[in-house]
Amino acid sequence: MSRERARAFAPASIGNVAVGFDILGLAIEGAGDSVSVTRSETPGVRILAIRGSDHALPLDAENNTAGKALLAMIDVLGLDYGFDVEIDKGIAFGSGMGGSAASAVAALVAANALLDKPLRAEGLYPFALEGEAVASGGKHGDNVAPMLLGGLVLAVGEDPPIRLNTPPGLCSVLVHPHCVLETRRARAALATPYSLSEFVAQSGHLARFLVACQRGDIDLLRRCLRDDLVEPRRAALVPGFQEVKAAALTSGALGASISGAGPSVFAWCLSTAHAQVVAQAMQAAFAENGLDSDSFVSSLDAPGARLLD
Ligand code: HSE
Repeated sequence: MSRERARAFAPASIGNVAVGFDILGLAIEGAGDSVSVTRSETPGVRILAIRGSDHALPLDAENNTAGKALLAMIDVLGLDYGFDVEIDKGIAFGSGMGGSAASAVAALVAANALLDKPLRAEGLYPFALEGEAVASGGKHGDNVAPMLLGGLVLAVGEDPPIRLNTPPGLCSVLVHPHCVLETRRARAALATPYSLSEFVAQSGHLARFLVACQRGDIDLLRRCLRDDLVEPRRAALVPGFQEVKAAALTSGALGASISGAGPSVFAWCLSTAHAQVVAQAMQAAFAENGLDSDSFVSSLDAPGARLLD
């Protein structure tokens, strides 16, 4: 038999990346969840502990993102054994940094190491989507895909995710204000229909963004890294959003928008040194709105989930 216990880490991520609602995501460095999984003769999944969260998260496997992802793995692979799971949260609840997805991805990467025939990272994606759906109500891969593969990833529904090239040297900044915005609430703000012209405009941003990344065209990136579709409806849910975005752009960021469902805000910058300046300006703007915050600066090719031991 293969090993009996494994522990894995999955990084936080920036969902949507302004131009790709539900289909584009970017892994970041400096924050993530760790999950220990033990192979058990007893079928099913048991969540034995969740540490590091000040929000009560479900311990029953069906309603827990890590538990649901592992149940999907057991079901599809026809495993005749089960898993015991311990989760160490490093990503705050309702932060817009993909916390629910990270637990699912870390659990899958750990459990994968316990399989008799481990899968490639892409093979875990359908199970991760099942876990994500428990938390947000939708099977969108914009968090789980970059967490699995690292870097910037296009993830359209259940199709295999595609890692994208990014211009060398660019960095992301993610600023997490200390407040909670539940994904379900942020999604409810999008319930009313969009016009065809709004859809066309945002399609143009996404198309140019993909070309800009492929060509390494910074000027084009500066013109198209924007969200005219979802951000206007969610901005009011993020305290100080307009000031924080303005601070990023005034400091020379290529673009800035809400990270995932919020309330975190991200920006893309020209270098690590530039990103540090932008992060400081964004944090100062949150502070003026009465919010403490943390910031994370990463290269655009941050690594994905990995085994810890
Ligand atoms: N893409 C989803 C949203 C989840 O914006 O609602 C983000 O993590």
